[in-house]
Amino acid sequence: MYRTHTCGELNMSYAGKEVTLCGWVQKSRDLGGMTFVDLRDRYGITQLVFNMETNKELCEQARKLGREFVLRATGIVTERSNKNLKIPTGEIEIDVTLLEILNRSELPPFTIEEETDGGDELRMKYRYLDLRRTPVKNNIILRHRVAQEVRKYMDSIDFVEVETPVLIKSTPEGARDFVVPSRMQPGTFYALPQSPQTLKQLLMIAGFDRYFQIVKCFRDEDLRADRQPEFTQIDCEMSFVKREDVLSTFEGLAKQLFRSVKNIEFSEPFRRLSYSEAITYYGTDKPDLRFGMKFCDLTAIVKGHGFSIFDSAEYIGGICAEGCAEYTRKQLDELTEFVRRPQIGASGLIYARVNADGPVKSSVDKFYSPEELKKWSEIINAKPGDLILILAGVRKNTLSALSELRLEMGARMGLRKSGVFVPMWVVDFPLVEWDEEEKRFFAMHHPFTSPVPDDLWLMETDPGKVRADAYDLVINGVEIGGGSIRIHDASVQKLMFKVLGFTNEEAEEQFGFLLNAFKYGAPPHGGIAFGFDRWVAMFGGQDSIRDFIAFPKNNSGRDVMLDTPSQISEKQLKELQIITRKI
Ligand code: AMO
Repeated sequence: MYRTHTCGELNMSYAGKEVTLCGWVQKSRDLGGMTFVDLRDRYGITQLVFNMETNKELCEQARKLGREFVLRATGIVTERSNKNLKIPTGEIEIDVTLLEILNRSELPPFTIEEETDGGDELRMKYRYLDLRRTPVKNNIILRHRVAQEVRKYMDSIDFVEVETPVLIKSTPEGARDFVVPSRMQPGTFYALPQSPQTLKQLLMIAGFDRYFQIVKCFRDEDLRADRQPEFTQIDCEMSFVKREDVLSTFEGLAKQLFRSVKNIEFSEPFRRLSYSEAITYYGTDKPDLRFGMKFCDLTAIVKGHGFSIFDSAEYIGGICAEGCAEYTRKQLDELTEFVRRPQIGASGLIYARVNADGPVKSSVDKFYSPEELKKWSEIINAKPGDLILILAGVRKNTLSALSELRLEMGARMGLRKSGVFVPMWVVDFPLVEWDEEEKRFFAMHHPFTSPVPDDLWLMETDPGKVRADAYDLVINGVEIGGGSIRIHDASVQKLMFKVLGFTNEEAEEQFGFLLNAFKYGAPPHGGIAFGFDRWVAMFGGQDSIRDFIAFPKNNSGRDVMLDTPSQISEKQLKELQIITRKI
């Protein structure tokens, strides 16, 4: 055996025993008569000690060890005089009698400790070294734990894990496809799945009844902290279900994950908000409900007083920041700068302080009487000491800017607490969304989403008003998952394609395989897919999913370690019958 124990398991109960450990040199300290080496493996760190008096030769060998050398050390477990109670092995050290250098290492390009001096690019280039760092390693182990819990739970309720192919035909999740050229049929391409959406529906038609898969999905879209071009879904589908069945099944999964991974019990059902409520009160379809600060529509009461910004606005909305009336000029200027950022796009910020002694002082005092200002505070439910923040403009943009301002205030006021989780379902999304540029409707989820049965009659006359039988699971402002009841009736599917502007031929060309399958007894079905990376990152208390993926891409979609995307050889291009040229 290479080793008898790991670097994380020895304590005083092993005192006097001879052990052999293997691992990497985290650091070494030469104190003259003694040399100490911290030996690290996946399980922890154990201190090795070399004594000049008892074994000069070995001690001299130890002095020459560099960071990240790979060692095998045999010795006796002894009690430490200088205990480190912060780590499980901190009461003991190994008095080394035999040392073998299994491999040497060059000086690593950054420090491999909890905190590192390596910038993002460097850490990604040497990701295998970054993964030696405890926080990143723990994230990957957390990911493994969550995956095991998902499998255990899904298996316990009769879901069958089925793998679906990766070389497929385009899927309709709204992003660009990654494509793979075919050698055997030159000039044709596979698409990598944006999700296994159509395949899981085919599995329902095949009678599998309950399917899930922890599956890689590929989307060529602009990247953000919570988006990777290659990410993982917990993809699920079930037959003979209505919306309530799907929601209760997966609320069960969510609760079980919180219970087993975070030791958090949710005894109440998750909150539900309709899409339209979410937009009206929080300006987004993924509100962070760890705090209130609901929007208040002030349009009717503030218009018509000669203040042109309000008078010309389609929508004027406010939020109340409790206890922030004392905000300084500088803080308010910062907030104004914040809402004016191009990505937020508001033209300015109006504020009103509710002073401790009652009167409301605003930045637009001259247009409103004290009584009118008092009315603002009543309608927005602001108390003495509170600060009212108001944005005005085109409704859609203003709601979204106010949502950003709400989140910013939530963060500044410490209301977005880590360790607090507020899960919720957002339901009743619109089925389709009008695209002004392309002058056509797009599916808000995907074209297989069923309309709410009560709204079916509006499909031909007013499709923009039709609600989808769709739902998202949102936790702390992050869309963790989304799904829907599917259309299983060929005539409704045809109607949907018509609303989306597909001709029969186009629908047939893209989704003929599915439409054909619908002819052979498709059961009513529905499902959901969770963003696995997002879920794990949330459990790990971080916004960015990158450090929860072993080998992620950077913000420009590059794998800087593998140095790809990269060119392929002339020979490969020739085999594929592909000629490349710059356009
Ligand atoms: P949707 O497109 O909403 O639905 O995706 C489901 C969930 O996957 C996560 N997600 C991502 N995570 C990381 N990087 C990305 N680029 C990325 N894109 C999406 C999100 C999202 O909620 N087939 C449907 C599901 C269904 O209807 O059953 C689908 O893929 O957490």
